[in-house]
Formats: sequence, C-alpha cells, structure tokens
Amino acid sequence: MATAAKLGSNLTGIQMSPKDTERLMEAVEQILPDVPGDDALLATERVKRNEEAERIGSVPIPGSAKGMLKSTFDMIKGKSPELLVDKLGERLAFERSGVRLYDAMIAKVKAMNVVGSDLVSVLQHIRDEEFEHMLLVEDAIKTLGADPTAQTPCADVAAVKSMGLMQVLTDPRTNVAQGLGALLTAELEDNAAWELLIELAEAGGHPNIAKSFEKAKTQEDDHLLKIKSMVRRDLINDIK
Ligand SMILES: [Fe+2]
Ligand SMILES: [Fe+2]
Repeated sequence: MATAAKLGSNLTGIQMSPKDTERLMEAVEQILPDVPGDDALLATERVKRNEEAERIGSVPIPGSAKGMLKSTFDMIKGKSPELLVDKLGERLAFERSGVRLYDAMIAKVKAMNVVGSDLVSVLQHIRDEEFEHMLLVEDAIKTLGADPTAQTPCADVAAVKSMGLMQVLTDPRTNVAQGLGALLTAELEDNAAWELLIELAEAGGHPNIAKSFEKAKTQEDDHLLKIKSMVRRDLINDIK
C-alpha cells in the first residue's frame, strides 16, 4: 500500500499535452451532448420530480402491544415521538457504519506494519465506543416502545451518505492519510449529530434519554479531537 502522495505518470490534466489543449477546447464547443435538453430543462425536471416524489419510507407504528402503550404514553408526555424515533434510527445506522469504518481503517493501519505506533490502539478504542453508542441508541429506541431493527427514513439516508466513506476506507489502495480524512468527515457529523440529538430529546420531552446521551457526546468530542490531531500529525510528518 502506498503512503504519502507521490509524483508519477498522471495524464489527467491538460498540461500533459499542451498541443492538444486547443483541439480539446474546440471539441467542447462542437461536440454537443447526444441527449436533448439543457441546464434549464434539467433544473425544471428536477423540480418536477421533487414535487411528484413520495417520501423516503416512514417511521413504523410500534409492532408490540407493549410498544403501542408506551408510544401512546409518550405521545401524551412527549412531542412528535416519531421525529425522535426517526433521528434515533439515523444515529443507530450511523454508529453501526462507524464501527465498520473503523474496522476497515484498523486493517489498513495493520497492513502498514508501523512498529511502535499507537494508531491501532487509538482506533480500536474509538471503534469500541462507537459500538457502545450503537447499543445506547438501541436502548433509547426500545424505551420509546419503537423497534430498533426497523430502518427509519433518516437511517436510510444516513446509510446512503456513508457509502462514499465506506468506499474510501475499504479501497486497498487508499493510504492512512486518506482513510483518516474519511474518518474526519464521519466524526465531524457524528459530533454535531449527538449535540442535536440531545437537544431534540430534551425538546421532545424525554430528559432521561437526553441525559443518557451526555457521556456519548463527551466521547464524540474526544473522537473528533483524536482524529483531527492524527490527520494533522500524519500530514505534517509527510511534509517535513
Ligand atoms: Fe459515533
Ligand atoms: Fe465518533
């Protein structure tokens, strides 16, 4: 596996063949897309499709009688429990993906065989905390009488969003710095999302759930700090 960026035979830029640049620019003017329409039509079509589209799934009605009772109780006690369940489903999906992202990163670092590095143990520590967070969210969903195995709309969107990160981390050609960059994207969102989730639980009338999430938020602050400093350390080491 490669480490830092290297000079090589990259032919993607026009500077690699100045004599062809003019011809290339002419071709851009002359060869038009072979599908009808233009930017304005595309924009109109997008608006139309957005207007017509159904929503991405729904938050399920509690499947058990116990859940139904709890939900009714929370419906009285709390506000819009389905909104909180949707966002809890999102967090559950994200934390589960987080565990997998860290597993992929740990494999990448192990392949580097860096003697004396604490990287694997730090990554393992964060990975285990992401797993704990997943179980914590599962408990909160059950407290509301909802089904943690159901994929909520926001959970669906979260899984789609993390696909790019997963591709970066599981690509055997990406190096440690590139993997850390993907983890930084994940942790930035992770951090903001926990903060919002605590606020949402409080606003929805579930102070106990909000309280149970405080430790996770503190751990997420630590994840962000650690990943950010690893990104910095890796880049600065390479540039010196
Ligand atoms: Fe997390
Ligand atoms: Fe995290």
